[in-house]
Amino acid sequence: MTQKPDTPAEPTIVNSWNEWDPLRHVIVGRADDCHIPPEEPALDAKVPENSDMRGQWGRRPQEMIDRGNELLDNFADMLVKRGVRVDRPDSIDHSLPATTPDFHTESQFGCMPPRDVLLTVGSEMLEATMSYRCRWFEYLNYRPLMQRYFNEDPNFRHESAPKPRLTDADYHPDYLSDKIGVEKRLQWAEEKFFVTTEEEPLFDAADVLRFGRDLVVQHGFTTNLKGIEWLRRHFPDHRVHTVNFPGDPYPIHIDATFTPLRPGLILNNPQRRLPEEQRKMYNDNGWEIVDAAQPAHNAPPPLCYSSTWLSMNVLVLDPKTVCVEKSEVYQAEQMDKLGMNVVEVELRDAYAFGGGLHCCTADVYREGDCEDYFP
Ligand code: ARG
Repeated sequence: MTQKPDTPAEPTIVNSWNEWDPLRHVIVGRADDCHIPPEEPALDAKVPENSDMRGQWGRRPQEMIDRGNELLDNFADMLVKRGVRVDRPDSIDHSLPATTPDFHTESQFGCMPPRDVLLTVGSEMLEATMSYRCRWFEYLNYRPLMQRYFNEDPNFRHESAPKPRLTDADYHPDYLSDKIGVEKRLQWAEEKFFVTTEEEPLFDAADVLRFGRDLVVQHGFTTNLKGIEWLRRHFPDHRVHTVNFPGDPYPIHIDATFTPLRPGLILNNPQRRLPEEQRKMYNDNGWEIVDAAQPAHNAPPPLCYSSTWLSMNVLVLDPKTVCVEKSEVYQAEQMDKLGMNVVEVELRDAYAFGGGLHCCTADVYREGDCEDYFP
């Protein structure tokens, strides 16, 4: 696939320590060639039991891909107009199977959302292990960018976490039924019994939130405790905190659950019940945790993995400015009350490709240094 070459105004510097400092350079995903992958253990556990996606797989309909790309391109153009440099991935052929000596699956996923794959911490971009077989090769979509950053920024650290084997030993067979029921799922979430086992370290980058010296990591379907321990050893100068949200029957990716907006302020998903003891570090340091407004929709759009809580999956441009999806009127209204300037972005028809405004981006450069917000 031919991509328009991006012409950087200045050489790349990779630097981003948190979710809110002024954004200057970002990657925005593409809907190109995105697939609904065939059944596999960890993915099945995430697809809601009443979902229109159960039992079907293959390339997503072309008109949905075109519409998704239109919205992602518009979002990228808007960011460029605001002075943010935007890079885009080079889509690989996602119709090809993913095969290693340990597993085989008939197709891949896509080059959306980059937030799931790439974790930027300071001058490092770390490719996550991933936990779905169909996403094992997803880092390849971003390798041309990683090579460019490596050539341009002498301080850039390109890292890749150990590729997991993803044999059946990585998944609890209890989760394989499509008729578990939400009640059982909630009980399991409460017991911290998730679809992934502790066979080997697993994490998706979107389970991590960056607060300067502190990294907050959700333990759930896509990140296990060994994955969090791996992150702890990999970032010895950080404090790594494990969080759980027992009110989420499908716990993957923290960014529709817990959303820092600026130093001292976090939006919290009111259904997912952040445990009291996990609020302590914020309370002790004068941070406010505010329940997010209700989503504007009763159901996700067609062929979408995510919940309606993509309403709170916002992209912060600086501590006073936030991008909110255009139809999410209650979330926008709440942002306004919280003193944030809202930039409306139409993205709902791209949700099916894996998420909202935060998901579909990955940080390359935000101003600012590594600060200690929880001394
Ligand atoms: N688990 C979230 C929800 O459905 C969706 C998170 C999507 N985030 C992402 N980075 N892909 O509520």
